[in-house]
Amino acid sequence: MFKHLTTAVLCFALSVTTTISSAADPIVIKFSHVVAENTPKGQMANKFKELVETRLGDRVKVEIYPNSQLFGDNKVLEAMLLGDVQMAAPSLSKFSRYTKKLALYDLPFLFEDMEAVDRFQQSPAGEKLLKSVERKGLVGLGYLHNGMKQLSASNKLRSPNDARGQKFRIMSSDVLEEQFKAVSAMPLKKPFSEVFTLLQTRAIDGQENTWSNIYSKKFFEVQPYITESNHGLLDYMVVTSKEFWSELPADTRGELEQALSEAISHGNEVAAQKSVSDRQKITDSRRSEIVALTAAERAQWVEAMKPVWKKFEKKIGKDLIDAAYASNQ
Ligand code: LMR
Repeated sequence: MFKHLTTAVLCFALSVTTTISSAADPIVIKFSHVVAENTPKGQMANKFKELVETRLGDRVKVEIYPNSQLFGDNKVLEAMLLGDVQMAAPSLSKFSRYTKKLALYDLPFLFEDMEAVDRFQQSPAGEKLLKSVERKGLVGLGYLHNGMKQLSASNKLRSPNDARGQKFRIMSSDVLEEQFKAVSAMPLKKPFSEVFTLLQTRAIDGQENTWSNIYSKKFFEVQPYITESNHGLLDYMVVTSKEFWSELPADTRGELEQALSEAISHGNEVAAQKSVSDRQKITDSRRSEIVALTAAERAQWVEAMKPVWKKFEKKIGKDLIDAAYASNQ
């Protein structure tokens, strides 16, 4: 009798412990990114954490790992498929192992401004591109902006000829590789975390990036010139793994989608502000000269780089390129 009672008490105690521990164990979302916190992506991620923890604090915990602390840009998607990280927002240029379609966004001089990017991304063709990574086990949750890229260098780049023979760091994109080859420069695919040192030690001559990345990673301190070329787009896709996402309770997933959509709107506002304010901070620092191109000079870059479109027409699809270009009107 006593023995039975002890067993019953033990079983009860065990079941209470199990219930308590599962109720006390929130779902953990590790969000890994490569940029500083004072950037559009850094601010978006922090906003997402804040919203999720206010609304779902007992159910979901968000851990943010900025500055390539957890994974660099070449590893994060592999890590996601292994379940070591649950969210990230790599640049659209870093998905080439998962889809050829997103290479569209790297075509030089495709979008005239961020309004055109918005028009395209909100169109059915733009939305469909978010699904292009699904076959590889990833879920595209939304686009996030950074802005237009500029060319920073150790010498003044006015015409495409000035780039001849110069070494430029690029993200891991074949389109970007061809873009620099088109002006007889030497592109090198390198992770974002290595760019500052490569520039500082003059192992490379230049790189392309947005005002907020050039400012927050201090590239302007080691690059005497920045040509305001607005020649390409730096945009992100917020991604998760299909496995992680599909196993979430439906109501939690819905709440996370809502929080993410609000965080992305916030990140896009930060992007718009920083493309002006970080540019101004660089001007004020007097560490780097901002080189404005005349219309005729810019036309030379367009003429030199635009043939790259043709090279990728088959892989990306002419219809898609036409649809994206048409969003400029
Ligand atoms: C880069 O590698 O230059 C950018 O993709 C970094 C980033 O995520 O903004």
